[in-house]
Amino acid sequence: MTKRTLALPLAALLAAAGIIAGLEPIRGFAETSSGGALKPPAEFASIADSTARSKAIFAEASRVLTHPRCINCHPATRSPTQGEEMHPHVPLMIAAESSMGPAGLACSTCHGPENRPIVGSRLKSIPGNAHWQLAPESMAWQGLSVAEICEQVKDTERNGNRSHADLIKHMGEDHLVGWAWHPGEGRSAPPGSQPELAALISAWVETGAACPD
Ligand code: HEC
Ligand code: HEC
Repeated sequence: MTKRTLALPLAALLAAAGIIAGLEPIRGFAETSSGGALKPPAEFASIADSTARSKAIFAEASRVLTHPRCINCHPATRSPTQGEEMHPHVPLMIAAESSMGPAGLACSTCHGPENRPIVGSRLKSIPGNAHWQLAPESMAWQGLSVAEICEQVKDTERNGNRSHADLIKHMGEDHLVGWAWHPGEGRSAPPGSQPELAALISAWVETGAACPD
């Protein structure tokens, strides 16, 4: 697929709307940087007790779940956050009940089906995905400890009624999850890869899906 480039007039419009002007400078990296390695399940084989092993595996997977690329979309309030330091979305967005934004200003107004580079701005790109929307209120992760995120993720009352098998599939195949490793220029990716995350979640389930203390 050919990448569309945001033409300058639109970038100028966004700047006029305060979207670009109000942003913190992007620090540290000029383009997407990798988040480093994720330990494979085999590295936990030496932990003899399976519950202890399960906890350690989730803790490793949580390095992805707590990465800004994930939790910017799993915020504590109905407003998404942005950037590496998770500042409030500029302009302030209220996702509303639908998770797709208020009537008249849906997420898709600005977030297209794929990432769009912006030429000539320090905001390098606008993230995109055909299903771009905020995670529901019951799936808020910001402000929670890793233990609390773990309990919430496996609680069918709060996780969209997902079984353990559904969780492996969601983290391994969902497009919004996968976007995190292709976040567009100017954003870092979480550690590892989507298949590596799925392998860890799978190993976590096999060892009893125990949550860290
Ligand atoms: C663009 C926003 C967005 C991004 C980015 C995103 N998510 Fe989500 N996430 C959602 C939405 C929306 C749902 C609800 C989907 C549903 O129930 O069908 C969700 C649901 C989930 C769930 C279901 C269970 C639960 O309790 O939350 C998991 C697990 C999850 N996301 C993991 C991740 C991980 C891991 C990442 C990063 C690698 C990530 N998400 C990035 C929007 C996002
Ligand atoms: C008026 C345009 C506009 C609308 C509407 C909009 N966004 Fe954004 N959003 C942006 C821009 C521009 C960026 C990139 C800013 C950056 O990288 O600092 C962005 C970035 C984000 C990010 C940060 C990604 C990351 O990890 O850095 C999230 C999450 C996000 N938007 C969610 C949403 C959601 C959910 C909605 C709908 C409820 C929405 N946005 C509606 C313009 C918009």
